[in-house]
Amino acid sequence: MTLHIQKFPTVLGAEVTGVTLRGLADPAVLAQLRAGMDEHAVLVFRDQPLDNDEQLQFAERFDGTLHSKTSVAVLGKNRFGNEALTDISNVGADGEILAADDRRRMSTVSNRLWHTDASFENPAGRYSMLSAHVVPPVSADTEFADMRAAYDALSAEGKAALEGLQVFHSIAYSREVMGFEFSPEEKEKLKGAVHPLVRTLPRTGRRSLYLASHAAHIVGMPVPEGRLLLRDLSEHATQPQFIYRHAWREHDFVIWDNRTTMHRARPFDDKKYRRELRRTTTLDLPLPA
Ligand code: OGA
Ligand code: MN
Repeated sequence: MTLHIQKFPTVLGAEVTGVTLRGLADPAVLAQLRAGMDEHAVLVFRDQPLDNDEQLQFAERFDGTLHSKTSVAVLGKNRFGNEALTDISNVGADGEILAADDRRRMSTVSNRLWHTDASFENPAGRYSMLSAHVVPPVSADTEFADMRAAYDALSAEGKAALEGLQVFHSIAYSREVMGFEFSPEEKEKLKGAVHPLVRTLPRTGRRSLYLASHAAHIVGMPVPEGRLLLRDLSEHATQPQFIYRHAWREHDFVIWDNRTTMHRARPFDDKKYRRELRRTTTLDLPLPA
């Protein structure tokens, strides 16, 4: 079995074959996968059934410490008993499809806005990994936008205008935009975080726009002016030429780099069909030199 990484025709994304993620511990293979992430920003693995422990174990081996302060964790108990395994599904603890007005449903439908995981935390998310357990018979895809290509495509003046800007990210903000309210106690746990608008990736030196639905304002700029700039950049970055769209199959495993991509779920009839994915996200802590 030889590891092979086949680039998609899109600007980002590649399919990996010749590897079994369950129990993977070979440092050389893990390093090849990290290099694949640096190049392609999204890696797709087919036919990788992983149970919860196997997914958690792989995520830690791949990139270290896991993110567990998710917004869903603030809303209620995790049905897997581990906050580092996020329930990306429309199913409740009783195994039934969530009611239309369920708070978890109302909050997770906001995954349909372009975002990057845990940008409202510090450290934010680095790699996110989704395993597909139940996939509906209708299209319920995920789109990814390449924020390096989007940065590269800006004019020289456009790039210069972004130098040194810092952005405040808050999940309370992105949910409020959608009409979802956290209680004061919940908000207390979700204070938000500041990150640079343009990031330079340590291993590749490439620059990338760091945006998300959670991006509420630009530090030191009048709020409407900053929001308009963020909106314009987001519109620019999500043009078709920067997008890979993933059509899920059962037992797919997809890894993306939150530093260099945005993503969003596409709508489907979630009151009728079950869709059950499980996510692990690592923290964007400093990398060994
Ligand atoms: C996520 C997410 C999108 C989807 O898991 O972080 O945004 O299509 N998922 O479920
Ligand atoms: Mn997400």
